[in-house]
Amino acid sequence: MPEHRPLRLAVFASGRGSNAMAIFSAVRSGRLPGIDPVLLVCDREKAPVLEKARESGVPAVQILPRSYPSKDDYEKAILAHLHDKKADAIALAGYMRLVGPVLIGAFPDRILNIHPSLLPAFPGLHAQRQAIDYGVRVTGVTVHFVDLLMDHGPIILQKSVPVFPEDTEETLVERLLPVEHEAYVEALAAFSGGRLQLSGRRVLWKAD
Ligand code: GRF
Repeated sequence: MPEHRPLRLAVFASGRGSNAMAIFSAVRSGRLPGIDPVLLVCDREKAPVLEKARESGVPAVQILPRSYPSKDDYEKAILAHLHDKKADAIALAGYMRLVGPVLIGAFPDRILNIHPSLLPAFPGLHAQRQAIDYGVRVTGVTVHFVDLLMDHGPIILQKSVPVFPEDTEETLVERLLPVEHEAYVEALAAFSGGRLQLSGRRVLWKAD
């Protein structure tokens, strides 16, 4: 059990929201006792994740970048919501946007991301298609801390998944998704339990 009050987590998502839902359902079922999901932030209009979050009882806000003159202003608007909810940390869950200095500065080493490849291989969009096109036989998922570069920060956890010759982007996406969900919950349990320690780029796991 966590020593302190649960970590107040904001989840950022842009679309379908299966990772966000996996986190919320892990909280509901008691697998993440150290996490209190306080807000869902979505940067797109009519994204399915907005409704799904509300159905899960998590307040959801839509904040559109085009409503602000600059990326800094957009992120300052998000920050106001995060402060309002007293958020301690952020989990990016299919948030299709590079996080900028405003948010990174406000949450140093407190923003996590999930990516559907074994980083540093295949960063960016369509990681599954990139893996197939490259011809790798093994790919996977990575949970990492977020820095200013895309899919780049210190790696918390990776899980591997086979790639089969007959795979299409769709079949690989389908094989990876449940592994993403499992990895994210595992990483968040360790993070909220204070078990992750950064040493340069390396993330050291302390025992339970
Ligand atoms: C996932 O594959 C995630 O790793 C990537 O974008 C996808 C989002 O899916 N960053 P979902 O919205 O969580 O279902």
